[in-house]
Amino acid sequence: MLNVVILAAGLGTRMQSNIPKVLHNLAGRPMLGYVLDSALALNPSTITIVVGKESEQIKSFIRNFSKKINIVIQNEQLGTGHAFKQSIPNLLDCPNNYSSTLVLYGDVPLVRTTTMDRLLKSCKNGLSILTSFLNDPSGYGRIIRDHNGCIKKIVEHKDANNIELNIKEINTGIISAPTSMLIKWISKLTNNNMQGEYYLTDIVDMAVSEGVFVDSRFPDDYWEILGINNHIQQVKLERIWQEEQARIIMDAGVTLADYKRIDIRGSLKCSKDVFIDVGCIFEGNIRLGSNVKIGPYCVLKDVNIADNVIIEAYSHLSSVTLDKGVQVGPFSRLCKGVSIGSNSKIGNFVEIKNSIFGKNTKSNHLTYIGDSHIGSNVNIGAGTITCNYDGLNKHQTIIEDNAFIGSGSQLVAPVKVGARATLGAGTTLTNDAPADQLTLSRTRQCSIANWRRPDKGFLKKS
Ligand code: UD1
Ligand code: CA
Repeated sequence: MLNVVILAAGLGTRMQSNIPKVLHNLAGRPMLGYVLDSALALNPSTITIVVGKESEQIKSFIRNFSKKINIVIQNEQLGTGHAFKQSIPNLLDCPNNYSSTLVLYGDVPLVRTTTMDRLLKSCKNGLSILTSFLNDPSGYGRIIRDHNGCIKKIVEHKDANNIELNIKEINTGIISAPTSMLIKWISKLTNNNMQGEYYLTDIVDMAVSEGVFVDSRFPDDYWEILGINNHIQQVKLERIWQEEQARIIMDAGVTLADYKRIDIRGSLKCSKDVFIDVGCIFEGNIRLGSNVKIGPYCVLKDVNIADNVIIEAYSHLSSVTLDKGVQVGPFSRLCKGVSIGSNSKIGNFVEIKNSIFGKNTKSNHLTYIGDSHIGSNVNIGAGTITCNYDGLNKHQTIIEDNAFIGSGSQLVAPVKVGARATLGAGTTLTNDAPADQLTLSRTRQCSIANWRRPDKGFLKKS
């Protein structure tokens, strides 16, 4: 039987923000989400999160996350021991069934499930603490060991003497113990210390004096235990986490122009021989097929890209599917459900919204296509615009296979261009263009021979 308690009632004043600290983002999603994911992966019997009283935002985030999570309120922030105490009515502790409790912090987002599991296995008979060595341990509680190396107690930074301040082994705050022991120790806490707080860490001293062995474990990676209290720590952890994401995709075969200049804010799955240039941002669910090349400074969100696709610099794609061999960009914007068939080409300053393109279709320059269904082998000339919006409703444009749209055309939707039809350049199409015919709307060109531009008398006649 396992209880998980997440402490998240701290005021987070150093963030200088109206947003609760644990809802600040790491890689595009609230840090609390990471803690909840890793904790839920342990499949605990109960999971309880302690929040402050003014925390509607946190509560609604948690409710949307999972119905399994209990929320308890700590009305006054009287310390980590007091915060934990609020969770006790929710803990399952059955005398016939071994029950342990794991304490996590909402502002320490990257602790792995495997690390939590290791800590839990080590606490079967007593208290176990996740500790770490830091070059700069300032601010953290220090782990005090006796001459045999056994943990004696934890001293908070503010309560530590000069010898204790030199200790580099720190308390990460993450602990586990049999539930019954934790509950007993918590009831004995006092606030007799520099901060006048009920320290959860004081239970170490109690365990030792009762002869209970206090064990410890390390995380696999040093960054697992780093907390976020201010925006400097937030951005430092963001960079560490981004480097870790970059390492994972490089291990999977991706070539990065610079592993420090990529941002992955979601899930990026790549096949073999993908190349990603500098400054790209990936959000949501992204899948890149093999041999895909992404140019510099592209933003891709919820995109599914097949093999051999090339996306040139500064392109912005959101909710897009690209079939094999498609080329996009530079400076293209594709959004809101665009699907492009194999080997089609979308060029610079082309915006496409909510539209489907067939195979081998080209729209190379300066065009807007919205709410359209475009066939295969279509050529869309520069400056073509679908007039899809009448101020109230959106209408569809259909362009069938092998059609040719002359440059500078406006297609006033709803309208259809039949198969193999040609539109003359500059056409304003208000009725359907029949298949196999040339359609054009133009006033006849004329020249006025004796016309004179108004001038101030110095324009010469040639
Ligand atoms: C705590 C530990 C310290 C450890 C450090 C690791 C104690 C007394 N000290 O110190 O040994 O090195 O974490 O980061 O436990 N919280 C509440 N209610 C409160 C106070 C805090 O819910 O009344 C929550 C916070 O939201 C946070 C966590 O507990 O998630 C830790 O609180 P914080 O004030 O950051 O702890 P530290 O003083 O840094
Ligand atoms: Ca504190």
